[in-house]
Amino acid sequence: MLQLLRYYEILLDYSSLLFYNILAMSGYYYIFTYGCQMNVHESEKIAGLLREIGYVQSSDCETADVIVFNTCCIRDTAEKKILGNIGDVKHLKKNNPSLIVAVVGCMTQQKGIAESLKNKFPFVNIILGTHNIEELPKLVSDIDNKIIKRQISVSSEDNPEICETMPIYRTSGTNAWVNIMYGCNNFCTYCIVPYVRGRERSRAPETILSEIKNLLANGYKEITLLGQNVDSYSYEGYDFAYLLEKISEIGGKFRVRFMTSHPKDFNGKVIDIIKNSPNICNNIHLPVQSGSNRILGLMNRRYTRERYLEIIDEIYDKIPSAGITSDIMVGFPTETDEDFQDTLSLTERVRFSNAFTFVYSPRNGTVAAGMEQLPYSVKRERIKTLVALQNKISAEKSLDYIDNIEEILVEDVNPKKPGTVCGRTESGRLVTFSGEKALIGEFVNVKITSAKSSALWGVKE
Ligand code: 5AD
Ligand code: SF4
Repeated sequence: MLQLLRYYEILLDYSSLLFYNILAMSGYYYIFTYGCQMNVHESEKIAGLLREIGYVQSSDCETADVIVFNTCCIRDTAEKKILGNIGDVKHLKKNNPSLIVAVVGCMTQQKGIAESLKNKFPFVNIILGTHNIEELPKLVSDIDNKIIKRQISVSSEDNPEICETMPIYRTSGTNAWVNIMYGCNNFCTYCIVPYVRGRERSRAPETILSEIKNLLANGYKEITLLGQNVDSYSYEGYDFAYLLEKISEIGGKFRVRFMTSHPKDFNGKVIDIIKNSPNICNNIHLPVQSGSNRILGLMNRRYTRERYLEIIDEIYDKIPSAGITSDIMVGFPTETDEDFQDTLSLTERVRFSNAFTFVYSPRNGTVAAGMEQLPYSVKRERIKTLVALQNKISAEKSLDYIDNIEEILVEDVNPKKPGTVCGRTESGRLVTFSGEKALIGEFVNVKITSAKSSALWGVKE
């Protein structure tokens, strides 16, 4: 592909802009993305970097000239899948020897992993860490130009400077992701993130505000603020509540969501701003992890069950229609039946609108990995019980929406049901109703008529 393009480069007329655009194309990229929204947004930056050197997106990896694996190592399920997927592209190199394969993201940042990936997958050309992704275009060009064959570059810097000049190729429709901070200082004992993403670094409020204003001017209707712990956003004395308030003061009709909040830092000031600002969604993702004080202590979460419930009560008291979601984990080392019952009773008491439920998996280098582990059979039973309970609660909570008139920001057509579109309530619930593609990006009032599990259906008012 590249050889062919270069051949045309010699033959074609540079003075034609149309031809120049064709010439400027270096080939196709395909990005595999694993993990959270943070990674989805990082893939938008990787795409931006590759597009700057003339690559365009391929619809599948078979036809790509550059394949990037944007990895995640937060749980072992993701890690196993990634290793399998990397192995699967080896055969593509046989048909296309100039194919460039890159592995980037937080998996490469773990101790010893870059080296073992290098040995295990000799066909991988580039291994980059989370802090030096901006090196990708130069390395791709150097490999493409046969200057180098392979490069491993993983910086162990804990406080790297934030790169504010990264190009972003957005793919998220009406919603735009905006990082407000990077890294984490919390060292929850089960979690690998602080080891692979470094310490907390916040972006300047004026930089964030100007990015958001620009996105709104370009037609985005929803902004999701991203950070491992948005509540500990801090820039020269400005905190998260200040930032939210400033964003809410930008004129025009748009929505703001944010994730992830930490119960130890979440506070009444933020609740008041959500309550008083029509633009800030009443949708709060507040991971509890466990309902047992003993386990919360071992996890180093630095709040108790009682404090968590106090926050929940304050939220529902001030914002009765709030959609509160959570992350809940089962099978943390030494978790007893009694501890697990505490998690179930907390789940019943809070009645989360939705929850991501996880089976604990040991991560190398974390404190909890050195604790006494539970057998998988126990974890499996517990996750089944928790999922069943949360599904029941989500379905019951859905019924509360029936007959409500909800404002929906239309995100997409529903590919499974032609003639229908879907979007979210302010509280974060997905609603499907009859409508055409032209409604995408519009705010529409919808009367909720039926519900199944956590999905809602309605009719346009
Ligand atoms: N095992 C299982 N789940 C984990 N999480 C983080 N680390 C682990 C682990 N080692 C979950 C937490 C966190 C979410 C993003 O992933 O619930 O909130
Ligand atoms: Fe991991 Fe805890 Fe930081 Fe969240 S707050 S990223 S769970 S260490």
